[in-house]
Amino acid sequence: MDLHLKDKIAIVGGASQGIGYSIAHTLAMEGATVVITARRKEPLLASARRIAEETGARVIPVAADLRTESACQEIVGRTLDECSGVDILVNNAGAPPLGPVLSFDDAAWERAVEQNLLSVIRMIRQVVPSMEQRGGGSILNITAISAIQPIPQFGLSVATWSAVIGLAKTLALELAAKQIKINTICPGYINTPRLQKVFAAGDEPADDVQAKLCAEVPLGRIGTPQDIANLVALLVSPRGSYITGTTTQVDGGLFRATR
Ligand SMILES: NC(=O)c1ccc[n+]([C@@H]2O[C@H](COP(=O)([O-])OP(=O)(O)OC[C@H]3O[C@@H](n4cnc5c(N)ncnc54)[C@H](OP(=O)(O)O)[C@@H]3O)[C@@H](O)[C@H]2O)c1
Repeated sequence: MDLHLKDKIAIVGGASQGIGYSIAHTLAMEGATVVITARRKEPLLASARRIAEETGARVIPVAADLRTESACQEIVGRTLDECSGVDILVNNAGAPPLGPVLSFDDAAWERAVEQNLLSVIRMIRQVVPSMEQRGGGSILNITAISAIQPIPQFGLSVATWSAVIGLAKTLALELAAKQIKINTICPGYINTPRLQKVFAAGDEPADDVQAKLCAEVPLGRIGTPQDIANLVALLVSPRGSYITGTTTQVDGGLFRATR
């Protein structure tokens, strides 16, 4: 199926590796120009080269830390300078530290809000005028399954990503008349460098940890970044033009409510 993404301009956050990389690669494969961001310049440049070589798409790397307003301005500014506007924004980056909710002080909460919520608000604020000018656009947030099915120790992410889901539902209503869609994906266990670190973090052998997580998943496997990217590509494409305000888990069946 042609997703009609050719010549669309997409900004993808946290795209030097993992889920963001796979999303950028997939959109590029479909013919989009992709602006990719991450903090560390070398891995970002290497990923940009690889995506360009493998897809033939135009890839623009912008090394920036999404936790600051100036970085959000720089990313969108560079996109508007080098391309004709923005059609697609994928909000994706890292996550705050794990720990019991009551162990975090105000400073930790402020950092978590800045990272998971304010970065999303700032990026959306920056891209909407261009999307409006172009007659529409699509915004996609990557959060986590824990935002809809909380996990102990994940409180900073659960609380801030729940706020992102509320923000997205509200914005879906406020921006619909401008034909700007906004959806949220909640990944389950996805095999990325981040998850590999989790496998290796404790005293148990990494293979045993991985096997335990697999056993929790009804479909019996850890997801791949491509599992996420496939849905993102559909949602942000003209093929997904009637889908807005949704929150969808991509988790092999982990989410256990009927909602
Ligand atoms: N993997 C999973 O199982 C899973 C499950 C649920 C949710 N998620 C969420 O999905 C998102 C992506 O996860 P992942 O597994 O792909 O992570 P990952 O492998 O650690 O990749 C994260 C990417 O984001 C970049 N990044 C991190 N912080 C950033 C910042 N402040 N500004 C700009 N770029 C930043 C990283 O590059 P730099 O370090 O160079 O900045 C890297 O390119 C995370 O929010 C994660 O919590 C992941």
